[in-house]
Amino acid sequence: MNILHICANPKPVEESVSKQLSAEFMSELVQKYPDAELNNVDLYQDPPPFLDYPAFRALWMPLMNPGYAPTKAEKNATAYAVRHAELFNAADVLVLTLPMWNFSVPAILKAWIDQVIAPNLTFAFEPAEGGGFSVKPLHHIRKIVLLVSSGGAYQEGDPRDALTAEISAVFGFIGINDLTIAWADGQNALGFQDHAERKQTAMEAAVEAAEEVAEMALAEAPAATV
Ligand SMILES: Cc1cc2nc3c(=O)[nH]c(=O)nc-3n(C[C@H](O)[C@H](O)[C@H](O)COP(=O)(O)O)c2cc1C
Repeated sequence: MNILHICANPKPVEESVSKQLSAEFMSELVQKYPDAELNNVDLYQDPPPFLDYPAFRALWMPLMNPGYAPTKAEKNATAYAVRHAELFNAADVLVLTLPMWNFSVPAILKAWIDQVIAPNLTFAFEPAEGGGFSVKPLHHIRKIVLLVSSGGAYQEGDPRDALTAEISAVFGFIGINDLTIAWADGQNALGFQDHAERKQTAMEAAVEAAEEVAEMALAEAPAATV
């Protein structure tokens, strides 16, 4: 089973709660499922460009005008999108590690999303029966594990939480609706006396998420021959 890990946090692991969640997740995963094929992408080491006009034209103009042939410069502008869509399309599970910044995902992750979630790279639009369109996934990711940390705490459905709203909407759009979350909330020590317990609970949730993924992988692995 191929696991694509996208990390959108610039801090070293010893200073980052979300990276500690992912270290815990990975260590449990490889222990329970040593055959896991892991692809780690640190967005701060391999930063996505903002989607610019040439890349937009190459990726989106063929939808509006099926005969549209991108120029060489437009094609070249899609190099990051094409390379990262290949990693995306090879994956069965997507793991996202990130802090909450200004109630949402860090901008570097949004830039990656704008590169990768593009027609004819990771999904296609198909005419739907009775008019309109439907979305056909070109990837085969079935599950997302979200490893996140925040200073504040948010009840499910809190309108200030644009982070889970963004992740659910974007990946739901391309057919991924299975989302497991390990969230170390209340990490602002001034506001939450129980921040350490909250972190510990999230660490346990990260271990459980790894066990879920390992079980999924082992259930699908071909039976060993004797
Ligand atoms: C630029 C910035 C913006 C932040 N915005 C929020 C926010 O909107 N809501 C919140 O609960 N915490 C916010 N925080 C606090 C972080 O989410 C919190 O410190 C978290 O534990 C960071 O995760 P990390 O330790 O993995 O980096 C912000 C922190 C920074 C640096």
